[in-house]
Amino acid sequence: MRVLSGIQPTGRFHWGNYFGAIAQYIQLQGDCNKAFYFIANLHALTTVRDSKRMQANMLDAALDLLGLGLDPEQATLFVQSDVPEVSQLTWLLMTVCPMGLLERCHAYKEKKARGLTADAGLFTYPVLMAADILAYDSDLVPVGEDQLQHIEVARDLAGSFNHLFGDVFVLPKGKVLDSSAKVPGLDGEKMSKSYGNTIECFEDLKQQRKKIMRIATDSRPLEDPKDPDTDHLFQLYANFATDSQRQEMADLYRRGGFGYGQVKKALADAAEAFFDPARQRREYFATRPDLVRDILNQGAKRARAKAAEVLARAEAACGVAASPN
Ligand code: TYM
Repeated sequence: MRVLSGIQPTGRFHWGNYFGAIAQYIQLQGDCNKAFYFIANLHALTTVRDSKRMQANMLDAALDLLGLGLDPEQATLFVQSDVPEVSQLTWLLMTVCPMGLLERCHAYKEKKARGLTADAGLFTYPVLMAADILAYDSDLVPVGEDQLQHIEVARDLAGSFNHLFGDVFVLPKGKVLDSSAKVPGLDGEKMSKSYGNTIECFEDLKQQRKKIMRIATDSRPLEDPKDPDTDHLFQLYANFATDSQRQEMADLYRRGGFGYGQVKKALADAAEAFFDPARQRREYFATRPDLVRDILNQGAKRARAKAAEVLARAEAACGVAASPN
C-alpha cells in the first residue's frame, strides 16, 4: 500500500494540521518507498506572494515535519516543485476535467462567496492536487476532513482518464481520523490559519498559555453538568490526553462543579508536555541545515523516479509520448 500526503508551507503548522494530518503521516510511515510526504509550495503560491517568505516557510515546514516525527529513513520527504513531472501530469488531467467539478469545490466557492476574485490557480488547484496524488500510484491519502472533497476529484479524474485511455491510474482513497478530522480553533470553528484561530505546535510557551486562556467558552454556572462531546475545549484536551485522563475529564464535565479555567490549565500542561520531545528534535534539525537539504534532495530523487514512471505510462496511454527520433 502506498501512502501520500501534502501540506502547504503557508506558515508554522498548527494543532489542526498535526492531529488531523501529520499524526497520521507518522503512524503510516515505515517504508520510505511507500510513504511519500511533500511540502506543497506550488499550492501555497496561490496565497504566498513573497519569495523570501516562501523560502522561509518551506524550511520551517521541513523542520516542523522532522521535529514532529517524520523519519527520513521511514518516509520520503520532498518539495512539490522538485518534481516537475507533477506539473506535466496536471495538464493531462486538466484535459479530462469538467468545469462543473471544479466549480463545486469549496475552496473556490468560499472565496467567490466572500466576493473575492479567484485566479485560475485557485480554480484549478484540485487538478494539481489530483496530479500530486496520482503521480505516485498512491492508494491512501491521510488528511483532515476539509481535503476529502479534493481526493474525490482525484478519483473522478483518474476514473475518467482510465475510461478513455485504459488502466493508467490507481484510484486513491482518503483517510481521516474520527477523533480529529476537524480540530476546532480558539473560537470553536475549524482551526485554520485563515480564521486567525490557531495554536501552533511550536508556539512560544507563554504565548501558548495566553492563547489557551482565550479559548471561547460559554457562561453557564460552575455547578451545571456539561456535555463533553459538544464542547470544543474538551475536544482539544482529548487530543492530548491518555484514555484514562480523557475519561476522568469527561466525568468531571458530566458531574459539573468545575471551572473552564481548570480545564484550560490541564490543556496547557498537557500540550506543553506532549510537544516537548518534538521541540527538541526540531532544534536538532534547525542547527543542521545541510542535513535538511540532503533529506529533501534524496526525497526528491526518489519521488521523481516514481513520478517519471507514472507520467510515461499516462503519456503513452493518451498518445503524446515522445516520438521516436
Ligand atoms: P493544508 O496545507 O491546508 O493542510 C494540511 C493538512 O492539515 C489538515 N488540516 C486539518 N485537519 C483537521 N482539523 C483542522 N482544523 C485542520 N486544518 C488543516 C488538512 O486537512 C490537510 O490534510 N490541498 C492540501 C495540500 C495538498 C495535498 C495534496 C494533500 C496538496 N496536494 C495531495 C493531500 C494530497 C491543503 O491545502 O492542505
